[in-house]
Amino acid sequence: MQIIRVKNYEELSKKAAKILASIITLNPEAVLGLATGSTPVGAYQELIRLHREEGLDFSSISTVNLDEYLGLDGSHDQSYRYFMNQQLFDHVNIHIEQTFVPSGVSSDSQAACTEYDARIEDFCGTDVQVLGIGGNGHIGFNEPADHFIRETHIVDLAEDTREANARFFSSIEEVPTQAITMGMGGIFSSQKILLLASGKGKAQAIKDTVLGPITPQVPASLLQLHPDVILIADEDALSLL
Ligand code: GLP
Repeated sequence: MQIIRVKNYEELSKKAAKILASIITLNPEAVLGLATGSTPVGAYQELIRLHREEGLDFSSISTVNLDEYLGLDGSHDQSYRYFMNQQLFDHVNIHIEQTFVPSGVSSDSQAACTEYDARIEDFCGTDVQVLGIGGNGHIGFNEPADHFIRETHIVDLAEDTREANARFFSSIEEVPTQAITMGMGGIFSSQKILLLASGKGKAQAIKDTVLGPITPQVPASLLQLHPDVILIADEDALSLL
């Protein structure tokens, strides 16, 4: 794992966007694995700036997102589809039909999971996967558990995850209790993983991810086995290393 230490969130965002922009430039048909949460927002803003001011071209790019809340459709302002449209897709020249987010409202969730993995397989995996990290070490919505799950699956959200994400809803009761998430196999299908972490709240999870034992209790610890992981983190997030 390569660790890039940055001073602050702004620098993190610029570094991440630079890596993504170089992948897009070198391969205009690249498949980007994207993430939600607050952490990648600055990188998405920088990508929008690069598109507007420097002509970064998304017209042949495809994207595959990590996860979605179960029960929220794309028009719900807390759905991850809505988030991606607002934070990135609506502001660049990407073809929206080439952007994929798991469906949170499929009548057959198991079929939706299988189809999502088939989609990733059709792409032969992603060229890069952006990841944030939960305070409990989750990636996507792969929560601490007693085993790693390879496939896209339905997950019960951990209580601390619901509490952390309650800030985006009017009350914790409104935070869905389940989600559909890409599994560790989908994440590992990526050529390169860009793990982003900012703030003291991520310090323990980052320490466990980088130095701890590989355990499904800290899902991100499995990244120790991926051949090409770049962790971009600020001083606060690296403060326990
Ligand atoms: C959610 C998402 C994760 C994200 C995590 C951290 O639970 N499913 O993909 O990494 O939140 O979010 P934030 O970046 O807001 O701290």
